[in-house]
Amino acid sequence: MIIDCDPGHDDAIALVVAGCFADLVGVTTVAGNAPVTHTTRNARIMLDLIGSSAPLHRGAERPLVAPPRHAPEVHGESGLDGAVLPEPSRPEDSRDAVGYIIDTCRTEEGLWLVPIGPLTNIALALRAAPDLAGRIAGISLMGGGTHGNRTPAAEFNVWADPEAAAIVFGYGGRLIMSGLDVTHQLQATPERIARVREVPGQLAAIVADLFDFFLSTYVPRHENLTGGVLHDACAVMALTHPHLFVTRDHHVVVETSGDFTTGMTLIDTRRHRHKSPPNCTVQWEVDSEAAFGAIVGAVGAFSH
Ligand code: RIB
Ligand code: CA
Repeated sequence: MIIDCDPGHDDAIALVVAGCFADLVGVTTVAGNAPVTHTTRNARIMLDLIGSSAPLHRGAERPLVAPPRHAPEVHGESGLDGAVLPEPSRPEDSRDAVGYIIDTCRTEEGLWLVPIGPLTNIALALRAAPDLAGRIAGISLMGGGTHGNRTPAAEFNVWADPEAAAIVFGYGGRLIMSGLDVTHQLQATPERIARVREVPGQLAAIVADLFDFFLSTYVPRHENLTGGVLHDACAVMALTHPHLFVTRDHHVVVETSGDFTTGMTLIDTRRHRHKSPPNCTVQWEVDSEAAFGAIVGAVGAFSH
């Protein structure tokens, strides 16, 4: 898989999970939770911490049309506040994430693209190289849902770049969506953070500190959450641990021009016989205890 990310606390743990359970071919970064300079630095740090030699390419610094908008209230100004992080040692390999995605998908067979931030890079790649749709195994993204978190209708990744999301949801190939309906079931609660803190080594201590920070920005803003939501891990685990999820296929489109609904993913859940054919496998439920157990295992795999 190639992960396209905007670290971001939940992106960070998604990289750890991918590093442990997947063939992480490459990583690209995008502006989202923080400016792309910050998300790239954070991705470099995480790849150092898991000892990954996967290439890292910086991508879009702004959405296709919408203005750049970030989430410091959730992830801090750095995009990865809350832990004492080592300086990144490895460089970024280029500033051409889109070219890297296109070239790699044309040379590697069976690649999954796993975007877990705004979909700008993926949309640019699909638009520049329409043949990718028939070459890749599919796209497993974190985004959307039957409700939003940035507005009542729109989830951040789709809201940040709705035009890009519309391109991706309409690309015609295999698509798996981990929206808020499933991701909110996977929370780093205090009890679970304590389990991470019991794991020896630098990575576990950093992840536990990051989860503590993430909890501190998430829980006060939600009546019904007791931990930071590990959204992005769901998009990776859709491929590494598919047995932990309940999915159904639906037709999904993205609203790009609604007065109140721009960035909404409209998921057709009707039981009508005459409706648009599905274009998306939607993840609805996760066995969160088993999923978090795998996450603790992944942290332990790199705790030396
Ligand atoms: O809405 C949650 C998504 O927005 C996650 O990917 C999180 O990292 C942020 O990018
Ligand atoms: Ca993200």
